[in-house]
Amino acid sequence: RSDIRIGLFGFGVVGQGLHTVLERTPGLRARIGRIGVKDRAKQRSLPTELFTFDRADLLNDESLNVIVELIDDADEAYHIVTEALRRGKAVVTANKKMLAEHLPELIELQRQTGTPLLYEAAACASLPVIRNLEEYYDTDLLEAVEGIINGSTNYILTAMHRDAISFAEALSKAQALGFAESNPALDVEGLDARNKLVLLLTHAFGLVTSPQQILAVGIDRLSDLASDYAREKGLALKLIAEARRLPDGNVAAAVLPTLVRPEHELARVQDEYNGLITQSGFADRQFFLGRGAGAVPTASAVLSDLSALTYGYRYEYKKISQNIDSALTPDAAEVD
Ligand code: HSE
Repeated sequence: RSDIRIGLFGFGVVGQGLHTVLERTPGLRARIGRIGVKDRAKQRSLPTELFTFDRADLLNDESLNVIVELIDDADEAYHIVTEALRRGKAVVTANKKMLAEHLPELIELQRQTGTPLLYEAAACASLPVIRNLEEYYDTDLLEAVEGIINGSTNYILTAMHRDAISFAEALSKAQALGFAESNPALDVEGLDARNKLVLLLTHAFGLVTSPQQILAVGIDRLSDLASDYAREKGLALKLIAEARRLPDGNVAAAVLPTLVRPEHELARVQDEYNGLITQSGFADRQFFLGRGAGAVPTASAVLSDLSALTYGYRYEYKKISQNIDSALTPDAAEVD
């Protein structure tokens, strides 16, 4: 196992979480060599010499062999990630928006450069869903994936239900705990869940699609009355992302607020937790449950990607038929 020297972009919630988990994982020979940040005025918890404000410092530094991209800005992240891959630096990212908007190019770039890009933290934070979907037995056809894949909206819905607080109050709490996106509209409008669903579609079904092709209705469209109604009826109100194979071979995918009965697995998903159900021919129904947001749980998935790089793991995208161009033709990528 060779040493990993990380060029880290971003030192926000997840970046700081990564520092914490690396400190507590001495067995993994990985350390942060340099950190690229934007805000010169911010007080940092680590020595100033670790930080740089020029992204070229990290990309040009040949002693840094892995780039970990944990910034907010999806466009800038795309430039960083593609440049790193072209320079032969393996990349780990948690940037679901950037990935969902650019997955076809990123898959192609990995093929061309032979350099891996891993992103387990980008969907369901601590839950190892991408790797599991990717490795799902080729012989066992996945029929559906369905779940709660945004932690902050689940936190909001749970808090409104249990504590009878308002939407606005619950959102402030989710922000204070570091669960929400910097722009929380992405969470409450269902767009973050939709970005993650794009990633799940690729790894579950080999479907490379774009976020705009998927229907998303957010919890911002509900009034506080919806939560009161669910409580009165003994139901749970959840924001559910679903992708399901249809009898005609197409896949239906959507993000929708949904009422679930108390005995449903997803009714048990509380606070910022995520839950994902897979349904397949032979294995039948399986349920993943775990923390879906927050510094250290999300960083645990980044850590697992770093570890995976040391043994040469990469996504094979084997469910994508032939090449991406064919997967992108309207027939193959049709989403109801
Ligand atoms: N804002 C995201 C969420 C963070 O609430 O799920 C984890 O991706």
